[in-house]
Amino acid sequence: METAADLQNTSELSQDLFEILGTHHLQFYVGNARQSAYYYRRAFGFELIGYEGPETGNPETASYVLKQNKIVFVLTSPILSTHPINDFIVKHGDGVRDIALSVGNADEAYKIATQNGAEGVTEPYTRTDKFGSVRVATVKTYGDTVHTFVQNIDYTGVFLPGFAATPKDPLAKPVGLLHVDHIVGNMGWNQMEDTVNYYKRVFGFSKFVSFDDKDISTEYSSLKSTVVANQNKWIKFPINEPAQGIKKSQIEEYIKFNNGPGVQHIAMESANIIETITALKANGVEFISTPESYYVTLAERVGTIDEDFKAIQNLSILVDRDDKGYMLQLFTRPQQDRPTLFIEIIQRKGGESFGKGNFKALFEAIEREQELRGNL
Ligand code: FE2
Repeated sequence: METAADLQNTSELSQDLFEILGTHHLQFYVGNARQSAYYYRRAFGFELIGYEGPETGNPETASYVLKQNKIVFVLTSPILSTHPINDFIVKHGDGVRDIALSVGNADEAYKIATQNGAEGVTEPYTRTDKFGSVRVATVKTYGDTVHTFVQNIDYTGVFLPGFAATPKDPLAKPVGLLHVDHIVGNMGWNQMEDTVNYYKRVFGFSKFVSFDDKDISTEYSSLKSTVVANQNKWIKFPINEPAQGIKKSQIEEYIKFNNGPGVQHIAMESANIIETITALKANGVEFISTPESYYVTLAERVGTIDEDFKAIQNLSILVDRDDKGYMLQLFTRPQQDRPTLFIEIIQRKGGESFGKGNFKALFEAIEREQELRGNL
């Protein structure tokens, strides 16, 4: 376990302005939730546990709740053409709408957040069904992304009041994804600092680690990134913005196709990345490829690791070491035809980095794909 001294060594000591217990769920707005749910179940091993829609008394939207260990995704589609969720999907395509956080007190969270400059979306209210109650409230963050604060009062149901439990999922074969490690937001030009300040001011988060564009750049494209984290570091939000390069930054490509800021990737931790990536690949999940040259000097760069270098290379896994240990990671291709949201699989072996040492190798691989799409 980390001590306060560790925290002080690696980052500014943050103090949450209200009690944040962790990530409650991630809600995606998608064009066809039923089919997206099948994809995340079949490909990523999530288990369908809950549903809300016309059959449960909500005539406007259909939502599927998927779970794997501590990770909860909610996929929501509008059913009527007049529903405002359509506007999000037209503008952004399928993507993350809500990074919902478990809080100790939703009223307090909403009050403090809005007093400190967050724009309110939904004032605190109580949701109740026969399994009990939760108190929820929602504030805006970057782009059209929001944070819903969820306070469990006495709820014992499957997800949230209004959702029905679904029969045991015959499809789900878990691939070992445990919890969300970090969620990355892409901002437009020169917007990173404003968003970092938002998280400092509204939540009391602090700068976890930061890079400048010299760290994260290739000949062709570059970006700047600052990571903000809450007090116990369970919530980590790297915030990116494009930086000047010879050709278009991958962040710029995202901003163009997402029509503004939004969630770029969700990193989920596995306790055994080799098994997880092997299972995901067998299920048809497409990952970015890593240049062979990356592996020539890998052992030199990262030293001794528990994993077999050959297995790492066969799966295109990336490895990065910092003074705390090392981490392994791999990125999927975008999860929709727009080059926007993608998924990262990560395994930490003491390492606290986000893959700084891998950025160059990673971006060269991303840029090869960008070039194929004609967006470089
Ligand atoms: Fe990441």
